[in-house]
Amino acid sequence: MSQHLLLPLVILAISPTPGAFQDSALSPTQEEPEDLDCGRPEPTARIVGGSDAQPGTWPWQVSLHHGGGHICGGSLIAPSWVLSAAHCFVRNGTLEPAAEWSVVLGAHSQDAPPDGAQVRAVAAILVPDNYSAVELGADLALLRLAAPARLGPAVRPVCLPRASHQFAHGTACWATGWGDVQEADPLPLPWVLQEVELRLLGEAACQCLYSQPGPFNLTLQLLPGMLCAGYPEGRRDTCQGDSGGPLVCEEGGRWFQAGITSFGFGCGRRNRPGVFTAVAPYEAWIQEQVMGSEPGPVFPIQPQEPQSGSREPTEENCTIALPECGKASRPGAWPWEAQVMVPGSRPCHGALVSESWVLAPASCFLDLLSSGRPPRDLEAWRVRLPSRPRAERVARLVPHENASWEDASDLALLQLRAPVNLSAAPRPVCLPHPEHYFLPGSRCRLARWGRGEPAPGPSALLEAELLGGWWCHCLYGRQGAPVPLPGDPPLALCPAYQEEEEAGRCWNDSRWSLLCREEGTWFLAGIRDFSSDCLRPRAFFPLQTHGPWISHVTRGAYLEDQLAWHWGLEGEETEAQTCPPHTEHGACGLRPEAAPVGVLWPWLAEVHVAGDRVCTGILVAPGWVLAATHCVLRLGSTTVPYIEVYLGRAGASPLPQGHQLSRLVTSAPPLLCQTEGGSWVLMGMAVRGSRELFAAVGPEEAWISQTVGEAHFLPPSGSPYWPPVGNNLCPPDLARASGSPRAVLFLLLLTPLIQS
Ligand code: ARG
Repeated sequence: MSQHLLLPLVILAISPTPGAFQDSALSPTQEEPEDLDCGRPEPTARIVGGSDAQPGTWPWQVSLHHGGGHICGGSLIAPSWVLSAAHCFVRNGTLEPAAEWSVVLGAHSQDAPPDGAQVRAVAAILVPDNYSAVELGADLALLRLAAPARLGPAVRPVCLPRASHQFAHGTACWATGWGDVQEADPLPLPWVLQEVELRLLGEAACQCLYSQPGPFNLTLQLLPGMLCAGYPEGRRDTCQGDSGGPLVCEEGGRWFQAGITSFGFGCGRRNRPGVFTAVAPYEAWIQEQVMGSEPGPVFPIQPQEPQSGSREPTEENCTIALPECGKASRPGAWPWEAQVMVPGSRPCHGALVSESWVLAPASCFLDLLSSGRPPRDLEAWRVRLPSRPRAERVARLVPHENASWEDASDLALLQLRAPVNLSAAPRPVCLPHPEHYFLPGSRCRLARWGRGEPAPGPSALLEAELLGGWWCHCLYGRQGAPVPLPGDPPLALCPAYQEEEEAGRCWNDSRWSLLCREEGTWFLAGIRDFSSDCLRPRAFFPLQTHGPWISHVTRGAYLEDQLAWHWGLEGEETEAQTCPPHTEHGACGLRPEAAPVGVLWPWLAEVHVAGDRVCTGILVAPGWVLAATHCVLRLGSTTVPYIEVYLGRAGASPLPQGHQLSRLVTSAPPLLCQTEGGSWVLMGMAVRGSRELFAAVGPEEAWISQTVGEAHFLPPSGSPYWPPVGNNLCPPDLARASGSPRAVLFLLLLTPLIQS
């Protein structure tokens, strides 16, 4: 609801409204019993195709002002009566005083005091007794004007439907208003009344759409007296500030008000059509309120019954819309991959986000932008898109306002001269709404971003798994950060590889974006790997905070609701945990350094999994090697692969012939701490995806000693000597930190390998 918004606001029309009015200058089909005419705008040459209404098209549209600005819409139904929505006037269960409201009639633009516009004080606001909240229905109100409106070409009443009036589902109707043009995006100056064509949805069809989990996994139960209009694919809708305004349908040359804008989930979202208060069921209530007022509202007899075929079938099959963005035939072949070609520089990689817009790092063009004004010569710029025979021309470059000083906002939007037809390729990538929460464990991949070097080998194609937001914060964010909740954009997104990346490749000058998949749909989740050194896991700036800017500029980028909601085992991430100390720069504040060649760590074992994956094991007893589960098992698999263990050469000898250099880096490095007496103790195992954050082995002591029997534990158990703090070596609070991840370990029972 928008009562607090002081700016005039309105109709969302992302794509131009198609279709054309029929000639409405038909003669009335029957005699009116009433003396007041209704629902007939002065015939004008209307041009439909844009979303600005022509003056005089909707002469019953009124604007309700409170505190000096537009708050809600309404419709004139009689010279002294305006129909609107109850929720515009009810604050904390009480009706706001009528004296605080005024009604503006005959306005087209709200910019300047419109000539021909009339302003009326409100004498009374009437709301049904059973109204309590929008989603519980009865969201309508009647306003009695202190003085009747003067009727003229710009000010005329709309017709009201009788209780028996049937609006066939599928009918194309129109909603009008000065509300937001997108979620949280007010109608820009000069605040011209917007119109949008919406189709009436049958009750069953609408209930079916609203039963699909949507924003925040919410569904809605429609109630009698509600009516839906819009499209399963969304993109055309009413929005904040349109409330109380009319939804009108033309029948027999007159416009009948079928609905009152009431609410919706977001605006223009997929499977979330606008919900209106159906006017017909409230005929009796309206008649009762206006009783005795002359002339009263007009309820003409329905011109003709809709054909039986167009009535809503009892059993309606549900046509839900699927995302139009983010589908790729296979990972790596990204149909949204765009290459911006600027004469004299290497191509810059970006992503197609709508029919007409490409998102790319602003740093690709900053040198050109440094003059402070957009480059004059976009003429020579080209954008290459998959499956397009010719490169596209560029019409406009819009850098993010913070682009030149904030890495997290290193973004620019390029508008193509002509929109491209979307198909399998090119197809835009999906963008997350600000409240999107990529679940820990989401499957992600990297895509080229900006002017990087050519892809450095196969790890670019490796699948990564998103680390819990909490650990990502602990590693890269503030210490003591509470667990981020959905709607609380994370500071970073950390994908951790399931398999190890190549050694020694930090790709300093390569730039990547992070694509994450939900229900088979790819989202552009993050930009610019900001761990420019070899820190692992990688960390990306989340893109979701930029959703509003992107949709404001593009008016039609594909922002999608979160599609995955099963929190799984990591659901506890939502609890109020805080980071264990000393994780800000990795556990112990140390980055493991490569041991000098020749130093032999006698307890280290090379664990070869399924013939080639290598990770580190620890010899904990003559017959037993301890390894991290994630090193041994592929994610999701429960069968133990073929494993070989090599002892006595880890850290010293090169790997056997035939092993690629790329396998040199071992996953799951152990954290060893030296005691006062000089012995080394295994304190932790690296958390999956990290080489810096370790899970304490201590809590697993019971399990290890039960299984192995002969393993050595230092007395008293789990508390070896700790060097003084400041020594930078293994502060004790790491191992004891509550809430740190548990080590998930495997014990491997060794059997001699028969060499043939
Ligand atoms: N309640 C909103 C208002 O006060 C109207 C929202 C309509 N939303 C929609 N998605 N159709 O202006």
